Amino acid sequence: MARSSEAISPTAHYTGYAWFHHGLSHQALVTPQGRLLFNALRPLNRLAQAWERPTVEGFLLARHRAIDSLLEQAIVEGRVTQVIEIASGFSPRGWDFKRRHGSRLRYIEADLPQMAEWKLQRLERGGLLQPGHRVQPLDALADHGPASLAALAERLDPAQGTAIVTEGLLNYFDRESVLGMWQRFAAVLSRFPQGLYLSDLHLARDNQGTSQRVFGRLLSAFVRGRVHLHFNGAEQALDQLRASGFSTAELHDPRQLPQAGRTQPGAELVRVIEARSR
Ligand SMILES: C[S@@+](CC[C@H](N)C(=O)[O-])C[C@H]1O[C@@H](n2cnc3c(N)ncnc32)[C@H](O)[C@@H]1O
Repeated sequence: MARSSEAISPTAHYTGYAWFHHGLSHQALVTPQGRLLFNALRPLNRLAQAWERPTVEGFLLARHRAIDSLLEQAIVEGRVTQVIEIASGFSPRGWDFKRRHGSRLRYIEADLPQMAEWKLQRLERGGLLQPGHRVQPLDALADHGPASLAALAERLDPAQGTAIVTEGLLNYFDRESVLGMWQRFAAVLSRFPQGLYLSDLHLARDNQGTSQRVFGRLLSAFVRGRVHLHFNGAEQALDQLRASGFSTAELHDPRQLPQAGRTQPGAELVRVIEARSR
């Protein structure tokens, strides 16, 4: 069954604070809930660090930096000038990329209505919004209607290369819902001259050790629901991406991306999808 967002938004608060703590975000995007959760989990993270075990912070930073580096490359190479970040939560990416690329980039953050409202208020209060950066409500599970990706994409320039980014979203939904999202993303991206999809993904094969299983249970308890591992290995995931309508698909190991910066234990638990249309 598909999950609704209310249960998984505590992790958005936590992640928002983790990025800020590590110098990747802005004070305006921090919430009291995020600070509280982060400080509550700090001792556990420190213990894991001391034992050289994967940490939540390690995988969060790895996935964020890896997605950033692939998106940056696509923008610098001129393949992408429009970005839709779905389920952006308290991500600093829209602010950060607009700050660096200015009017050359159009950036749309999209999330369920409550989160989109919170995000917009925070960006406005912090003076972090500039022309060409919007936040709007969207339901990634909707095929039609005003909250659908299809409707959002109608308002973009069909002549510009476009990227869709999801981070921290897929593993909270069952396989059927994820395949539905991928089909929707591929169909929308095929309307543009170049289409790029970037997302983190956890594979079952990389998450089978004892510490990884403990980590998975903690995360499931944290989000009050199951964390799904849809694919055992890379080939299965890549086959499904191609079957969903992408013309090419790769899975990156964040530790192999030189631009992604230094990684901590935990980076090995996550992969980053780079799928293209056309
Ligand atoms: C775990 S948080 C991730 C947020 C952010 N990308 C991050 O990495 O911290 C999940 C986000 O997905 C959003 N979400 C959940 N269900 C959604 C849906 N059906 N459509 C769009 N966003 C959804 C939540 O509101 C929340 O912001």
